[in-house]
Amino acid sequence: MKAIVYTEYGSPDVLHLEEISKPAPKDSQVLIRNHATTVNFGDLMARNFKAISPREFNMPFLIWLLAKISFGLNQPKVTILGNEFAGEIEAIGKEVTRFKPGDQVFGYLGQSMGTYVEYCCMPENGVAAIKPANMTYEEAAVVPYGAIMALSLLRKANLQPGQKVLINGASGGIGSAAVQIAKHLGAEVTGVCGTQRLEFVKSLGADQVIDYTKEDFTQNGETYNLIFDILGKGSFARCKNSLRPNGVYFFASFKMKQLFQMLWTSMTGGKKVICAFAPGSVEDLNSVKELIEAGKIKAVIDRRYPMEQAAEAHRYVEDGNKRGSVVITVASS
Ligand SMILES: NC(=O)c1ccc[n+]([C@@H]2O[C@H](COP(=O)([O-])OP(=O)(O)OC[C@H]3O[C@@H](n4cnc5c(N)ncnc54)[C@H](OP(=O)(O)O)[C@@H]3O)[C@@H](O)[C@H]2O)c1
Repeated sequence: MKAIVYTEYGSPDVLHLEEISKPAPKDSQVLIRNHATTVNFGDLMARNFKAISPREFNMPFLIWLLAKISFGLNQPKVTILGNEFAGEIEAIGKEVTRFKPGDQVFGYLGQSMGTYVEYCCMPENGVAAIKPANMTYEEAAVVPYGAIMALSLLRKANLQPGQKVLINGASGGIGSAAVQIAKHLGAEVTGVCGTQRLEFVKSLGADQVIDYTKEDFTQNGETYNLIFDILGKGSFARCKNSLRPNGVYFFASFKMKQLFQMLWTSMTGGKKVICAFAPGSVEDLNSVKELIEAGKIKAVIDRRYPMEQAAEAHRYVEDGNKRGSVVITVASS
């Protein structure tokens, strides 16, 4: 089968199309004939992980170290990227009961990666679900990562109808889903992103958009119940005046400093800091599927690339051009 393989860290040019053996499912696994996968934040990070210093990594040093060990210090241990997929179950192991051959599925492999392939195996209890009926394979492939993370993290923030939320990083994988989920929860949403993506974020339903290259949202006098900071670019101290009484500054990316702020603010009254992980679960993916089928989450595909052009797809995303998602259409579809 065809696979996009990389054996050294580096620029998009390290990605090559190769023929590798088709996997066979173990007793508790399903074999998926993949139709579409994506290029997201995790793919870019993993492809060039050797160059990512602890400072550039948006999480505490210990997590950077564990990720270095798990991805490989000088060369990648995981040689096939891709964490989102949509495809069809081709075969199942003899213990599998959740799926049957012919089921159309979508899902998220997380850090184990490996969806830049025509066929992949995953445990039947992995993060996979029946594909939403109202989406194509390509559309279904672009949703899982961002929507699972956004849904899981926003649940921890306990956002209420009528509240005002600012999403810092609203045009990315997590942020674009967060805009749609926060609107669905009845919040008034302000999305912060770069100039090229203002219209895209508006099209997702944001009530207001702010261009971070032209305006500092901490200086405009607006206040929010929740500031959801995807890349952890803001600072609690600088944004305190932009929070309403008892408002929450939620870091999806954080360092030790923000963890100490979370501890400190949990012991004092008033404005709070929250830092949290979203591991991603089948339950979250099923909730995402329901939201898609109810028309609350849509997929916006900017570009599609065939497997042969995976390097171009990575280059396009890395150069900061995308407005929406970038799909790698797998040849077998
Ligand atoms: N807590 C968790 O469980 C968890 C799980 C997964 C990932 N993460 C974290 O989430 C982050 C990746 O999120 P993602 O996949 O959504 O990334 P992404 O797709 O690369 O999007 C990044 C977003 O940040 C915006 N941005 C870039 N520079 C900015 C700045 N200076 N000020 C404000 N916004 C800025 C981008 O805007 P423009 O593109 O419009 O410029 C874009 O909207 C990583 O840091 C990762 O560690 C956390």
